[in-house]
Amino acid sequence: MTVVAIDGTFSSGKGTLAKQLAKHYQLPHLDTGKLYRAVAKIIQDQGADPDDSEACTQAAQNITADMLDEPVLKSGGIGAIASRVAVHKSVRAALLDYQRDFAANGGVLDGRDIGTVICPEADVKLYIDAEPEERARRRHAELTGYGEDISIETVFEQLKERDHRDANRTEAPLKIASDAHLIDTTGLSIERAFAAAVKIIDAVLEAKASKK
Ligand code: DC
Repeated sequence: MTVVAIDGTFSSGKGTLAKQLAKHYQLPHLDTGKLYRAVAKIIQDQGADPDDSEACTQAAQNITADMLDEPVLKSGGIGAIASRVAVHKSVRAALLDYQRDFAANGGVLDGRDIGTVICPEADVKLYIDAEPEERARRRHAELTGYGEDISIETVFEQLKERDHRDANRTEAPLKIASDAHLIDTTGLSIERAFAAAVKIIDAVLEAKASKK
Protein backbone atom coordinates (compact mmCIF):
# COMPACT_ATOMS: atom_id res chain seq x y z
CA MET A 1 0.00 0.00 0.00
CA THR A 2 1.66 3.20 -1.11
CA VAL A 3 1.22 6.26 1.09
CA VAL A 4 2.33 9.67 -0.13
CA ALA A 5 2.38 12.37 2.57
CA ILE A 6 2.23 15.96 1.38
CA ASP A 7 2.65 18.80 3.84
CA GLY A 8 3.20 22.47 3.28
CA THR A 9 2.20 26.03 3.83
CA PHE A 10 -1.18 27.58 3.12
CA SER A 11 -1.75 28.09 -0.64
CA SER A 12 1.60 26.56 -1.57
CA GLY A 13 -0.03 24.45 -4.29
CA LYS A 14 -0.02 21.24 -2.23
CA GLY A 15 -3.75 20.58 -2.69
CA THR A 16 -3.64 20.80 -6.49
CA LEU A 17 -0.51 18.70 -6.54
CA ALA A 18 -1.98 16.07 -4.21
CA LYS A 19 -5.08 15.74 -6.39
CA GLN A 20 -3.02 15.31 -9.57
CA LEU A 21 -0.63 12.83 -7.95
CA ALA A 22 -3.51 10.73 -6.62
CA LYS A 23 -4.92 10.52 -10.13
CA HIS A 24 -1.53 9.71 -11.65
CA TYR A 25 -0.75 6.92 -9.17
CA GLN A 26 -4.38 5.77 -8.98
CA LEU A 27 -4.55 6.29 -5.23
CA PRO A 28 -7.37 7.76 -3.15
CA HIS A 29 -6.84 11.35 -2.02
CA LEU A 30 -7.65 12.98 1.32
CA ASP A 31 -7.36 16.74 1.77
CA THR A 32 -7.04 16.69 5.57
CA GLY A 33 -7.59 20.47 5.79
CA LYS A 34 -11.23 19.71 4.96
CA LEU A 35 -11.60 17.84 8.26
CA TYR A 36 -10.57 20.95 10.20
CA ARG A 37 -12.70 23.11 7.91
CA ALA A 38 -15.73 20.86 8.54
CA VAL A 39 -15.20 21.25 12.30
CA ALA A 40 -14.97 25.03 11.76
CA LYS A 41 -18.26 25.02 9.84
CA ILE A 42 -20.06 23.19 12.67
CA ILE A 43 -18.65 25.69 15.19
CA GLN A 44 -19.74 28.60 13.01
CA ASP A 45 -23.25 27.14 12.52
CA GLN A 46 -23.58 26.61 16.28
CA GLY A 47 -22.38 30.15 17.00
CA ALA A 48 -19.79 28.51 19.29
CA ASP A 49 -16.33 29.84 20.10
CA PRO A 50 -13.39 28.34 18.11
CA ASP A 51 -11.29 28.69 21.28
CA ASP A 52 -13.72 26.42 23.19
CA SER A 53 -11.89 23.10 22.93
CA GLU A 54 -14.82 21.05 24.24
CA ALA A 55 -17.25 22.34 21.62
CA CYS A 56 -14.63 21.86 18.90
CA THR A 57 -13.82 18.32 20.04
CA GLN A 58 -17.47 17.34 20.07
CA ALA A 59 -17.76 18.68 16.52
CA ALA A 60 -14.64 16.77 15.47
CA GLN A 61 -16.07 13.52 16.87
CA ASN A 62 -19.09 13.91 14.61
CA ILE A 63 -17.32 14.47 11.28
CA THR A 64 -18.35 12.14 8.45
CA ALA A 65 -17.14 11.86 4.86
CA ASP A 66 -20.30 13.42 3.41
CA MET A 67 -19.56 16.68 5.28
CA LEU A 68 -16.29 17.22 3.43
CA ASP A 69 -17.60 18.21 0.02
CA GLU A 70 -19.59 21.31 0.88
CA PRO A 71 -18.36 24.21 -1.30
CA VAL A 72 -18.63 26.63 1.66
CA LEU A 73 -15.67 24.84 3.30
CA LYS A 74 -13.39 26.55 0.76
CA SER A 75 -14.16 30.07 1.97
CA GLY A 76 -11.56 32.29 3.60
CA GLY A 77 -13.73 32.75 6.69
CA ILE A 78 -14.01 29.00 7.34
CA GLY A 79 -10.26 28.59 6.71
CA ALA A 80 -9.45 31.19 9.37
CA ILE A 81 -11.68 29.43 11.92
CA ALA A 82 -10.18 26.05 10.88
CA SER A 83 -6.70 27.22 11.79
CA ARG A 84 -8.04 28.16 15.25
CA VAL A 85 -9.91 24.90 15.92
CA ALA A 86 -6.78 22.99 14.77
CA VAL A 87 -4.74 24.16 17.77
CA HIS A 88 -6.71 21.98 20.22
CA LYS A 89 -4.99 18.71 21.11
CA SER A 90 -8.32 16.89 21.61
CA VAL A 91 -9.58 18.02 18.18
CA ARG A 92 -6.46 16.63 16.52
CA ALA A 93 -6.84 13.39 18.51
CA ALA A 94 -10.49 13.06 17.44
CA LEU A 95 -9.51 13.36 13.76
CA LEU A 96 -6.53 11.01 13.95
CA ASP A 97 -8.30 7.69 13.40
CA TYR A 98 -10.22 9.00 10.39
CA GLN A 99 -6.92 9.93 8.72
CA ARG A 100 -5.05 6.76 9.72
CA ASP A 101 -7.96 4.54 8.59
CA PHE A 102 -7.93 6.33 5.25
CA ALA A 103 -4.15 5.86 4.88
CA ALA A 104 -4.37 2.17 5.79
CA ASN A 105 -5.50 1.34 2.25
CA GLY A 106 -2.84 3.53 0.63
CA GLY A 107 -3.39 7.05 -0.58
CA VAL A 108 -2.20 10.58 -1.02
CA LEU A 109 -2.89 12.72 2.05
CA ASP A 110 -2.16 16.42 2.21
CA GLY A 111 -2.08 18.71 5.23
CA ARG A 112 0.29 20.10 7.83
CA ASP A 113 1.29 17.09 9.95
CA ILE A 114 0.94 14.09 7.63
CA GLY A 115 4.62 13.19 7.40
CA THR A 116 5.35 14.10 11.02
CA VAL A 117 2.32 12.79 12.98
CA ILE A 118 -0.39 11.06 10.92
CA CYS A 119 1.76 8.87 8.65
CA PRO A 120 5.34 8.96 9.91
CA GLU A 121 5.96 5.71 7.99
CA ALA A 122 4.73 7.11 4.65
CA ASP A 123 6.58 5.76 1.61
CA VAL A 124 7.25 9.25 0.26
CA LYS A 125 7.05 12.62 2.01
CA LEU A 126 6.91 15.92 0.18
CA TYR A 127 7.02 19.38 1.70
CA ILE A 128 5.62 22.10 -0.54
CA ASP A 129 6.27 25.80 -0.07
CA ALA A 130 6.37 29.07 -2.06
CA GLU A 131 7.19 32.70 -1.32
CA PRO A 132 4.41 34.37 0.75
CA GLU A 133 3.79 37.05 -1.91
CA GLU A 134 3.16 34.42 -4.56
CA ARG A 135 0.93 32.38 -2.25
CA ALA A 136 -1.08 35.53 -1.49
CA ARG A 137 -1.50 36.20 -5.22
CA ARG A 138 -2.74 32.65 -5.83
CA ARG A 139 -5.11 32.72 -2.86
CA HIS A 140 -6.46 36.13 -3.89
CA ALA A 141 -7.21 34.83 -7.40
CA GLU A 142 -8.90 31.76 -5.91
CA LEU A 143 -11.09 33.74 -3.49
CA THR A 144 -12.15 36.35 -6.04
CA GLY A 145 -12.91 33.41 -8.35
CA TYR A 146 -15.42 32.19 -5.73
CA GLY A 147 -16.92 35.69 -5.75
CA GLU A 148 -15.34 36.94 -2.48
CA ASP A 149 -14.66 40.67 -2.40
CA ILE A 150 -11.24 40.95 -0.74
CA SER A 151 -8.04 42.94 -1.39
CA ILE A 152 -4.67 41.30 -1.98
CA GLU A 153 -3.28 43.23 1.02
CA THR A 154 -5.89 41.66 3.31
CA VAL A 155 -5.16 38.20 1.89
CA PHE A 156 -1.43 38.76 2.53
CA GLU A 157 -2.06 39.80 6.16
CA GLN A 158 -4.35 36.79 6.74
CA LEU A 159 -1.78 34.49 5.18
CA LYS A 160 0.99 35.71 7.48
CA GLU A 161 -1.30 35.25 10.48
CA ARG A 162 -2.24 31.72 9.32
CA ASP A 163 1.41 30.76 8.67
CA HIS A 164 2.31 31.95 12.14
CA ARG A 165 -0.51 30.03 13.85
CA ASP A 166 0.11 26.80 11.88
CA ALA A 167 3.85 26.85 12.57
CA ASN A 168 3.79 27.97 16.20
CA ARG A 169 0.97 25.99 17.80
CA THR A 170 2.04 23.48 20.46
CA GLU A 171 0.21 20.50 18.94
CA ALA A 172 1.57 19.07 15.69
CA PRO A 173 2.89 22.36 14.32
CA LEU A 174 3.70 22.61 10.64
CA LYS A 175 7.30 21.54 10.23
CA ILE A 176 9.43 19.79 7.66
CA ALA A 177 9.85 16.05 8.37
CA SER A 178 13.54 15.14 8.39
CA ASP A 179 12.99 12.71 5.51
CA ALA A 180 10.74 14.99 3.42
CA HIS A 181 11.65 16.13 -0.09
CA LEU A 182 11.23 19.85 -0.58
CA ILE A 183 9.58 21.48 -3.58
CA ASP A 184 9.44 25.28 -3.81
CA THR A 185 6.66 26.10 -6.25
CA THR A 186 7.51 29.83 -6.52
CA GLY A 187 7.65 30.55 -10.24
CA LEU A 188 6.74 26.94 -11.11
CA SER A 189 3.72 26.19 -13.27
CA ILE A 190 1.36 23.48 -12.00
CA GLU A 191 2.76 21.17 -14.71
CA ARG A 192 6.37 21.72 -13.63
CA ALA A 193 5.57 21.25 -9.95
CA PHE A 194 3.77 18.01 -10.85
CA ALA A 195 6.73 16.81 -12.97
CA ALA A 196 9.14 17.57 -10.11
CA ALA A 197 6.97 15.62 -7.65
CA VAL A 198 6.59 12.60 -9.96
CA LYS A 199 10.37 12.50 -10.47
CA ILE A 200 10.94 12.39 -6.70
CA ILE A 201 8.19 9.84 -6.00
CA ASP A 202 9.27 7.50 -8.82
CA ALA A 203 12.88 7.63 -7.64
CA VAL A 204 11.94 6.91 -4.01
CA LEU A 205 9.56 4.06 -4.91
CA GLU A 206 12.11 2.55 -7.29
CA ALA A 207 14.84 2.68 -4.65
CA LYS A 208 12.48 1.01 -2.15
CA ALA A 209 11.49 -1.72 -4.62
CA SER A 210 15.11 -2.52 -5.44
CA LYS A 211 15.89 -2.97 -1.72
CA LYS A 212 13.20 -5.62 -1.28
O1 DC B 1 -5.02 23.32 4.17
P1 DC B 1 -6.21 24.16 4.64
O2 DC B 1 -6.07 25.63 4.40
O3 DC B 1 -7.50 23.62 4.11
O4 DC B 1 -6.25 23.93 6.24
C1 DC B 1 -7.08 24.70 7.08
C2 DC B 1 -6.49 24.72 8.48
O5 DC B 1 -6.56 23.41 9.05
C3 DC B 1 -5.02 25.12 8.56
O6 DC B 1 -4.83 26.48 8.82
C4 DC B 1 -4.46 24.29 9.67
C5 DC B 1 -5.40 23.14 9.80
N1 DC B 1 -4.82 21.86 9.38
C6 DC B 1 -4.06 21.18 10.29
O7 DC B 1 -3.82 21.70 11.38
N2 DC B 1 -3.57 19.95 10.00
C7 DC B 1 -3.80 19.39 8.80
N3 DC B 1 -3.31 18.17 8.54
C8 DC B 1 -4.56 20.09 7.83
C9 DC B 1 -5.05 21.33 8.14
